[in-house]
Amino acid sequence: MSDAVVDRSRRTWIAMSCGAGAIGGVAVAVPFVASMEPSERAKAAGAPVTADISALQPGTKMTVAWRGKPVWIVRRTAAELAELPKIDGELADPKSLRTNFSTTPPYARNDWRSIKPEILVVVGICSHLGCSPSDKFTPGAQPSLPNDWPGGFLCPCHGSTFDMAGRVFKNKPAPDNLEVPPYKILSDTVVMIGDDSKA
Ligand code: FES
Repeated sequence: MSDAVVDRSRRTWIAMSCGAGAIGGVAVAVPFVASMEPSERAKAAGAPVTADISALQPGTKMTVAWRGKPVWIVRRTAAELAELPKIDGELADPKSLRTNFSTTPPYARNDWRSIKPEILVVVGICSHLGCSPSDKFTPGAQPSLPNDWPGGFLCPCHGSTFDMAGRVFKNKPAPDNLEVPPYKILSDTVVMIGDDSKA
């Protein structure tokens, strides 16, 4: 099992391995897997990266680095998904049609803004001035948020708020939704970021 963590500069990442599950076949497989992984230089230049989401629990987020950016992967709960269509009227671009900051891929122009409803994949950089929003997944009244807060993200720099699909609320400094990078779902446990080709 592996995990990836992005540092504050968003430019380096540290891979941590744990839970060996060491069996003979693993030792044989490692050199092969290593040879298939893109080099650090290739990753920095934009090579696709894969994320193992097998340990990602409902209601939690993990971060991987792609092109020096933090990419968030959130496994949303059924309750979080159910809220999304209800708040369209409060959002600046509920259907993700804007293209000023980024263009949402066609496969993410839907109610949940993703390929697989429960799996959200967005770049964790605010479309205003580039701060990294904070997780505010718990609904309800809390500091800096409205009493009817549905859950989402809060940018601490100038108060922009985003829902659980990364869509920005109306009348906020951020001009656009959080970017959805090109990606594809390789299996129930693996997401590839940086490549959405079908072949
Ligand atoms: S950078 Fe996010 S609100 Fe200004």
